[in-house]
Amino acid sequence: MSEYADCHALYQQSVQDVEAELDFVEQTWSDLRNRPAIFLREDFCGTANTACEWVTRDDSHHAVGVDLDRDVLEWGRLYNLAELDDDQSERIELLNEDVIQTRPGLADIILAMNFSYYLFLKREDLREYFASALDGLVSDGILFLDAYGGYEAPMNLTEPRDCKDEDGNDFTYIWEQAEFNPIDSCMTCHIHFEFPDKSRMDKAFSYRWRLWTLPEIREILYEAGFSRVDIYWEGTDEKNNEGNGIYSPSEIGDADPGWVCYIVAQA
Ligand SMILES: C[S@@+](CC[C@H](N)C(=O)[O-])C[C@H]1O[C@@H](n2cnc3c(N)ncnc32)[C@H](O)[C@@H]1O
Repeated sequence: MSEYADCHALYQQSVQDVEAELDFVEQTWSDLRNRPAIFLREDFCGTANTACEWVTRDDSHHAVGVDLDRDVLEWGRLYNLAELDDDQSERIELLNEDVIQTRPGLADIILAMNFSYYLFLKREDLREYFASALDGLVSDGILFLDAYGGYEAPMNLTEPRDCKDEDGNDFTYIWEQAEFNPIDSCMTCHIHFEFPDKSRMDKAFSYRWRLWTLPEIREILYEAGFSRVDIYWEGTDEKNNEGNGIYSPSEIGDADPGWVCYIVAQA
């Protein structure tokens, strides 16, 4: 089964929830701004799944996706942009560029999701990226990031999760934190996929990144020139004591084993 599987399709099904992500982005934008957001730039866009969702949400929406990997952009063109109608696909552009160098015009919103900016291992490089994102925003633009952490984040562990592909077939998504160095806080992580016939796609995706902490990220965003940086922490469902999917600005978080939050950086 692994021979017939497509790692990008499986990634989109198991890792991404672009609807929920853009629901948060749109709600937060409307809480903070009295005008609609039109132009969204998706940094580290991969298959440009989020950019495609953005242009389908409103006829006025435009999007640009930026990624260094030509092949993943081509996959996005073939499978995601191809699903759009002519009007929608005319309002989206994919750029095979470095997020630090790209200058596609000033965006209302820049997204850097699924922790992609953790790929910058040095403080200067992360600050340079944030400064260049700020340069890429209109004067009241907003950079949206996500972040993860918790006391299990630096542990070597393997975490399987049951998923279904687009046709409803079962597969297992496996997240592996393979290696963590406490001295430089850098880690190696892999995504593997396993199928009901026990065949596997090992290391379908591998990441070498730095486990940044929220205070570091916030400090570097301010150093880069953002005027206001808020952490949006997930609320708790009283019934099961689990996350309720509602993120709001917070100065105090819970010391959970694993958490994901949003960071909202205003130009
Ligand atoms: C973790 S994936 C994120 C995919 C997608 N944004 C998501 O939310 O799931 C990281 C992507 O960033 C791209 N990438 C890494 N460094 C980059 C850079 N400096 N400029 C542009 N893209 C980069 C990789 O090619 C890869 O597609």
